[in-house]
Amino acid sequence: MCSKIVLFTIFSVLSISDSARILGIFQTPTTSTQSVFQAIWKELSLKGHQVTVVSPFPLRDKSLVNLTEIDVSGTTKIFLNHDFQFFMNKERSTTSKIEALFNVNYELSEAIFEDDGFKKIYQNPNERFDLIIIQIHINPIFHTLGARFNAPVIGVSSMGGYIGSHFAIGNPNHPALYSEMFLPYHGKLTFSERWYSSFYNMWVRGYLYFKAMPRCNQIARKYLGSNIPDIEDLQKDLSILFLTTNPILYEPRPNVPIIQAISQVHLKPVQPLNQELQSILDNAKNGVIYFSLGSNVQSIYMPERFRRILIETFAELPYTILWKWESEDLPNKPKNVIIKKWLPQQDILAHPNIKVFMTQCGLQSLEESFNAGVPIIGVPFIADQEMNIKRLERYGVGLEINYLSVTKEELKGKILEVANNDKYRKKVVELNSLLNDEPIKGLEKVVWWTEYVLRHNGTKHLRGPTVDIGWVEFLLLDVISVTLIFTVLCLLILKRLICFIFTKKEKLKTK
Ligand SMILES: *[C@@H]1O[C@H](CO)[C@@H](O)[C@H](O)[C@H]1NC(C)=O
Ligand SMILES: *[C@@H]1O[C@H](CO)[C@@H](O)[C@H](O)[C@H]1NC(C)=O
Repeated sequence: MCSKIVLFTIFSVLSISDSARILGIFQTPTTSTQSVFQAIWKELSLKGHQVTVVSPFPLRDKSLVNLTEIDVSGTTKIFLNHDFQFFMNKERSTTSKIEALFNVNYELSEAIFEDDGFKKIYQNPNERFDLIIIQIHINPIFHTLGARFNAPVIGVSSMGGYIGSHFAIGNPNHPALYSEMFLPYHGKLTFSERWYSSFYNMWVRGYLYFKAMPRCNQIARKYLGSNIPDIEDLQKDLSILFLTTNPILYEPRPNVPIIQAISQVHLKPVQPLNQELQSILDNAKNGVIYFSLGSNVQSIYMPERFRRILIETFAELPYTILWKWESEDLPNKPKNVIIKKWLPQQDILAHPNIKVFMTQCGLQSLEESFNAGVPIIGVPFIADQEMNIKRLERYGVGLEINYLSVTKEELKGKILEVANNDKYRKKVVELNSLLNDEPIKGLEKVVWWTEYVLRHNGTKHLRGPTVDIGWVEFLLLDVISVTLIFTVLCLLILKRLICFIFTKKEKLKTK
């Protein structure tokens, strides 16, 4: 009897992980971000799980029979309505950018909750999921779906962890060692950087506590009901946090065990180019500079001055320039510049005539460049991009351009240097072999850890003491205070004692 129950339990646990019902919410409507999530939800459905996904970038692949996609591409316009120039502007403070990102995310979340297809899911009392996967970037609102469906939650980010997600799961994040990825600092921080980093840390905590979290709770409860617990508490129960970075591309750091690095998940096998692109690349005898600022940062929004410098520089280069430019025409376009609204980046980078990739240095673009062995000119705009290029310069795989201050001579010099000096290309190959030297590939790792969470219904056993420790204890304020008080008391007693002995002696002498 007993063994039957055991067998039955084992069987039901196994069958859950064999084919689980998984719900994924991925809200940020940009191609590079979604390319990571697409790879993950596709793979999980191919493993036989019943996957339902809410995303603005559905795959629409009929062969994926275990996949249900809820298309929320209408939310893309919310993203576009927010001022891109604002995000691109390096002179704006990091704190105002964080606030702006939160504001976009409130709107995105409400729009997703308002979607009729998604409503049918979260409002259906009979709907059941074994696991929720959410995009964790800035937005913690969808953590609440774990509470709604009584299922463990996995988080995925298409970059490193933002400071708030480190706080939430108790990951050590000392401001003197690991600046926030939205700050441009890298390596050993100077005094002023440590100063700013420390106060920025405090600001984020205050902002989350007093402004962001109350608003997130309010939005979640509006749609999921007032008995949804506080997001601050739900975040602490996160089962796994997948980050698409690793100690090669970001500064090595201590991580709690629920953080798993998953690089290169979005890379695809190279596809043949269309005829037009193939002949452009084949015929570029001197080589090609491929220029794209990715999907978050769009070239058409770049500052006027920088665009002028680019055009003047490109006109003087012996190369063909392939530029992802999101408009029909480019004023004063030189003859050797070819513009396209969209380009199959991975397939282009694989072409042997590509000499340099001029990129904004988003992680997905970087992984594609390394995979193809192409060195880099980095033009960072937002988020981790500036930190990324600083690290890559140290590896010797590319050079940085500051779009605010660059001159034509500097830009031309740097492009020619990276294009012609073979040492950059050699370093890229070295770096790529380091990146690939892993016991298990990124996507396999995602599947393994996801099924681990399913097998054990979460990772409560991995929850460390850092999640629940309070600030007073963490900063040892209680220990320091008690020690100080004790020391002062001892000194006072000692002083009394010495005074007492001396007066005794004096009295003896005078007698
Ligand atoms: C769909 O899931 C079933 C198991 O639930 C699996 O056997 C089958 O291979 C999956 N098919 C595809 C195309 O993913
Ligand atoms: C998983 O854990 C949750 C929260 O502890 C619990 O409510 C739920 O019943 C568990 N599910 C299974 C299948 O054991």
